[in-house]
Amino acid sequence: MCGIVGYVGNKKASPILINGLSKLEYRGYDSAGIATIESDGIKILKDKGRVSNLENIKEMASISGTVGIAHTRWATHGKPSKENAHPHFDNSNLFAVVHNGIIENYNELREFLINNGYKFYSQTDTEVIPNLVHFYFEQTNDVLTALKKTCNDLKGSYAIELIYKHTPNNLYVAKKDSPMVIGVSENENFVASDIPAVLNYTKKFYFLKDKEFAVLSKDEVKFYDFELNQIQKDIKEIDWDENSVTKNGYDDFMLKEIYEQPDSVRKTINSRLSDTGSYDFKDISIDKDYLTTINKIYIIACGTAMHAGLSAKSIIEKLCKISTEVDVASEFRYREPLIDNHTLCIFISQSGETADTIAALKLSKECGAKTIAITNVIGSSITREADYSILTYAGPEIAVASTKAYTAQVTILSMLAINFAEILGRCDEKVLEKVKQDVLSLPTKLENVLGTANSVKDIALKIYNEHDIFFIGRGIDHPIAMEGSLKLKEISYIHSDAYASGELKHGPIALIEDNTTVISIYTDAKLLQKSISNTQEVITRGAKSIVITNQNLDNNKFDYVIQIPEISEFLSPILAIVPLQFLAYYIAKQKNLDVDKPRNLAKSVTVE
Ligand code: M6R
Repeated sequence: MCGIVGYVGNKKASPILINGLSKLEYRGYDSAGIATIESDGIKILKDKGRVSNLENIKEMASISGTVGIAHTRWATHGKPSKENAHPHFDNSNLFAVVHNGIIENYNELREFLINNGYKFYSQTDTEVIPNLVHFYFEQTNDVLTALKKTCNDLKGSYAIELIYKHTPNNLYVAKKDSPMVIGVSENENFVASDIPAVLNYTKKFYFLKDKEFAVLSKDEVKFYDFELNQIQKDIKEIDWDENSVTKNGYDDFMLKEIYEQPDSVRKTINSRLSDTGSYDFKDISIDKDYLTTINKIYIIACGTAMHAGLSAKSIIEKLCKISTEVDVASEFRYREPLIDNHTLCIFISQSGETADTIAALKLSKECGAKTIAITNVIGSSITREADYSILTYAGPEIAVASTKAYTAQVTILSMLAINFAEILGRCDEKVLEKVKQDVLSLPTKLENVLGTANSVKDIALKIYNEHDIFFIGRGIDHPIAMEGSLKLKEISYIHSDAYASGELKHGPIALIEDNTTVISIYTDAKLLQKSISNTQEVITRGAKSIVITNQNLDNNKFDYVIQIPEISEFLSPILAIVPLQFLAYYIAKQKNLDVDKPRNLAKSVTVE
């Protein structure tokens, strides 16, 4: 998805903007551009392709402005091209704009502007914005008022940065349903769609709410509500360090993030652990009176975050005895779900900015449900929108394929389930105590499971040329299979499916032929024999079998067995996923693919 960066300060803006854009490359994009205010007006440089193309444009050396805006574009309206790349000028070259999001009524606005004598040079929805600003500026002679009137006309989502030739010390921003943060430092201030873009300049951030505006100069940031009343906002300090957004010696961010899991899970556990060993969720003021009125928990998310929800469904249902449904946000929001004030809705999102998840959250609130957000990014939209917010401490996740966010999400969901179970008193205390002990053992066991890397790599080298790979599992192992399959397809481009093992003979087994790879996961002793039988059924039909397990098996029955540490089955997704992350990684590496930035994918999906 698009990325934006902005700078106002004493320094030359272009290197800072380019550096910021390169930190946002992980979001996915197809063109890049910057605009700075120079002594003779605004200068725009942009091109199709990578940020490095932009950096190498000859005129880059000749721009020296200290105020500027920058953008990486992920094409929605109009093909990737220089003309469609941002920034965009208004017709008089007085205003330049970059924009994230989608202007749904741009055709109508374009028509209106054309009728008023404006011309368009791109196919983008964005180009209406600088021209509308110009149109309203002609009437009001005030940039902020012109921007507000423009936003009044826009339907859809936007994070807008605007500069004006004749206010060379200012940068204007507006936001609705698209991420934007404002970083502050001494004599310089920053705008970005994501914290990593400017983390090496500041750790202090303001978070803009929807329909708020800000005017930045090098010395201050002024905030306004939609009526243009000046408002105050609090600064939040981020504890991510700069190394967390570098590869730090690893070949890829994904590999680094896989290896960070013992630490990110440890930090996530510690964030909710009191000195006495009890869990501290006091900020989520959910008490017994409320919990006993709840007849359903919904967990809503997308992609890997949704798999984290599926992996936690079992611990919530078994320990709390509350029926729990997990849904993908893009379906949930349109299916008129049965929600009322007896429903608790939990939204999971690494970025905290996923458009479908935000929409589902808003819908749940409208229907009267209490809402809890689990995100990895402090101050993100989902965090602010939900009634209560719980952070995971995975640190910035840069690789498009989510790894450490997933294990942190399942960890915190499990702790929340244990906490609810303790409040409700519906579960045997000994069972709870054992799971709590197992939670504490997670970081060490994760370190241990990282030791499977080499054996998994050996398997990857044998199967990387395959066209189809199947993942199967029963009970808790089914969502692990789904997540393993998603990892594989998104970075290796191998077709892959995950099935509940018992479903195989209802159709998918027809796809099994000589040498088809089937990966089985066995982490629940109760289901072991049935799961083994399902694997035997595919072996009989010629399948090559790979097993990920924490059980004692007769290894001779299978082609490859990866042994992982024993743990309560509720927590096994956190361990069992690691070899599957390695498998996807090493297969993609063997195929020479860009592991961190797989084709067609964006890290943060901020449009529907
Ligand atoms: O930021 P979110 O957790 O809301 O993102 C949800 C999905 O887009 C994300 O998990 C996606 O599926 C990943 N690429 C999976 O690796």
